[in-house]
Amino acid sequence: MNPFSFKAEPNTFSGRVILITGATSGIGRTLALGLAQLGATVLLLGRDVAALEALFDEIIGNHHPEPGIVPFDLSQDDPERLTALKQVITERYGVLHGLIHNAAILGDRVPFEHYKTTTWAQVFKTNFEAPVALTQTLLPLLRQSSDSALIFTSSSVGYSPRAYWGAYAASKYALEGVATLLSEELENTSEVRVSVVNPGATRTKMRQAAFPSEDPDSVKPPEDLFALYAYLLSPTSGAPRGHRFQSDGHHQPLKHRAND
Ligand SMILES: NC(=O)c1ccc[n+]([C@@H]2O[C@H](COP(=O)([O-])OP(=O)(O)OC[C@H]3O[C@@H](n4cnc5c(N)ncnc54)[C@H](OP(=O)(O)O)[C@@H]3O)[C@@H](O)[C@H]2O)c1
Repeated sequence: MNPFSFKAEPNTFSGRVILITGATSGIGRTLALGLAQLGATVLLLGRDVAALEALFDEIIGNHHPEPGIVPFDLSQDDPERLTALKQVITERYGVLHGLIHNAAILGDRVPFEHYKTTTWAQVFKTNFEAPVALTQTLLPLLRQSSDSALIFTSSSVGYSPRAYWGAYAASKYALEGVATLLSEELENTSEVRVSVVNPGATRTKMRQAAFPSEDPDSVKPPEDLFALYAYLLSPTSGAPRGHRFQSDGHHQPLKHRAND
């Protein structure tokens, strides 16, 4: 089935608890609003508290389920806050039906030899180490559901790194590696579906930073990706486990590359 043929019902995500990192802008914000509209309780993770509160108000104003706010700077080591986050979700909801790793930073677009090591470390922290730590912490809550989805948002350079994409490409490549091994580990030991999404060119502030001279209207808006994420998160869509999805819905098994 092409993910874009999947039609979510108005209550597809009723009673489902889904955490989205980087919920304050771009793709993450679109997912938060759209999933809340379809009944999900969305847990909004971001580092900009004012933006999180504005999004909270918008969702409440739309009469959708009350979201949770998770102020969290993914570029900082904070194991205690991770533990506290798990405890709060456990006490309040008891389960997690979806975890969408979406937050990322671009870092520099310079030749490798000129890449600042401090920037390299910051990009890896945000784009790779934080999602890994968050996954380890929250996996037991995903396992509590008889049907849950773990989504890693990558990039074309996460599959095939290219010149001058530096730590961004390397961090996404590493993230796809973790998604691949985790998908294999979880395949026979849990009901957690692991997916990787390459959103492709999308009209957001990250895209604008990467391609400042591009006309923003020449690339698709984040809303065009919603159906794909809804398909991957839905308990009824029958989405395959352990696949890497492109923005046009084409997909291939993650394991394919690991077995080369
Ligand atoms: N747009 C594209 O063309 C494109 C293409 C391929 C892949 N992607 C991927 O799609 C995902 C979403 O990107 P986007 O295009 O929607 O970019 P975006 O508009 O820049 O959104 C990124 C989100 O991540 C958050 N974030 C960044 N650093 C953070 C940190 N340290 N702690 C917590 N949150 C942090 C940002 O919060 P702040 O607002 O506070 O910075 C923002 O909410 C990323 O994983 C990106 O790599 C995008």
